[in-house]
Amino acid sequence: MDSTELLLIGLLLVTALLMWGIFLARAGKPGKPAVLLGIPKAMRPAEPDEKLEGPRLTRIMSWGVIATMATAVFIPAYWLGELQRQEAFVERFDEESLGRGALIFAVPPELPEESDPQAFRQAERALALGMGCANCHGGVDEENPANSALGGLVDGGFVDPVTGKKVNYQAPPLQNVFQRWDEEVIRFTIERGRPGTPMPTWGVEYGGPMTTLMVDDVINWLRSLPGNQEGPEPVSEGCKNPAKADLKSCGEEIFTARCAVCHGPQAQGKEGVPPKPAKGEKAELPLWYPGLALWKGDVRHLDRDQHLTTIRNGRRYAFMPSFAEAPPQGIVAPAYPLTDKQIDAVVTYERSL
Ligand code: HEC
Ligand code: HEC
Repeated sequence: MDSTELLLIGLLLVTALLMWGIFLARAGKPGKPAVLLGIPKAMRPAEPDEKLEGPRLTRIMSWGVIATMATAVFIPAYWLGELQRQEAFVERFDEESLGRGALIFAVPPELPEESDPQAFRQAERALALGMGCANCHGGVDEENPANSALGGLVDGGFVDPVTGKKVNYQAPPLQNVFQRWDEEVIRFTIERGRPGTPMPTWGVEYGGPMTTLMVDDVINWLRSLPGNQEGPEPVSEGCKNPAKADLKSCGEEIFTARCAVCHGPQAQGKEGVPPKPAKGEKAELPLWYPGLALWKGDVRHLDRDQHLTTIRNGRRYAFMPSFAEAPPQGIVAPAYPLTDKQIDAVVTYERSL
């Protein structure tokens, strides 16, 4: 309850007390003889009709008309502001959701043991909400949101459950995740995680720590980042409709812009090899990306048609997005598709690796 509400309640109470006091004072005062004699009101002689139906009636009826008109004006006037009030509420809820989303994404602050209650109160929400997505996906930059969630390495290496190999795993940037995926896949990924990768399960239904509201909030916050409001880098003029001679170079350009985020800049996917260590230094861990390796002829186990179909239709439940402008029924159309010519160019490039 804020101070204006308290003031209003106080004012109403004082007015009510005042009126009650006046009533008590007047009721107890022996004025007219009828009161002194104890004759009930209904049995006392009344005013004559001329007086009752004269100016007094007009006065009462005029007040009635005024009150009706005031009500008639007040209701539509109140209604006129209703839409704005509702919009203001929606705006406030959205703002609060974004605020919570950023706190959820961030790493919760460290609170020193001996900190005072004031410091605790300030950090309370961040402590309660912080899920630490930023540990892997890159930090939250409040001043420049475009620098938030830029992706990063999974701290401490990751042991691949299939090979038992310890690797560095690339956590993808999320400031542009809506360029790759629709909300369903994003929600699905956050709630269930991606078994076999470092991405943990977060949804409470699947045993994670996040309620549905928290998942909504973090998705809202991700969506608000500049990269998720716009499309991917446009391809160069010559690659809008690549000529036969440019298929390979355009394929490389498109691959770098759209595929490298998951398959790695050299299409190494999960076959990254660490650079040779300098003398006396420890070897680095190999760097893995979420997508499969497409280099060194790895894609040739697919014939050209299968290769084209994979890129056109994607493999939604293996987390490879679709890229066709008009994929077959049942496959979600991508927000930023590639033309068939462009897909042909990427296939040519990948098959040349
Ligand atoms: C969101 C991450 C992501 C993006 C973006 C992505 N891929 Fe993939 N891609 C995957 C994953 C994961 C797989 C493995 C799917 C599976 O297990 O079947 C895959 C598989 C493939 C395969 C099949 C490989 C094989 O050996 O079966 C091809 C070809 C491919 N991607 C090409 C592309 C191209 C071309 C692009 C860009 C236009 C692209 N991908 C963008 C994640 C991605
Ligand atoms: C321990 C590191 C780690 C943490 C913490 C983490 N993630 Fe991830 N996340 C990953 C990795 C690694 C991947 C890629 C998985 C793969 O190979 O498909 C990923 C994938 C994703 C994707 C799909 C991206 C894409 O392009 O397909 C989303 C969305 C996502 N994470 C959201 C979140 C959110 C939200 C949180 C916090 C609640 C979070 N992650 C916390 C490591 C992490």
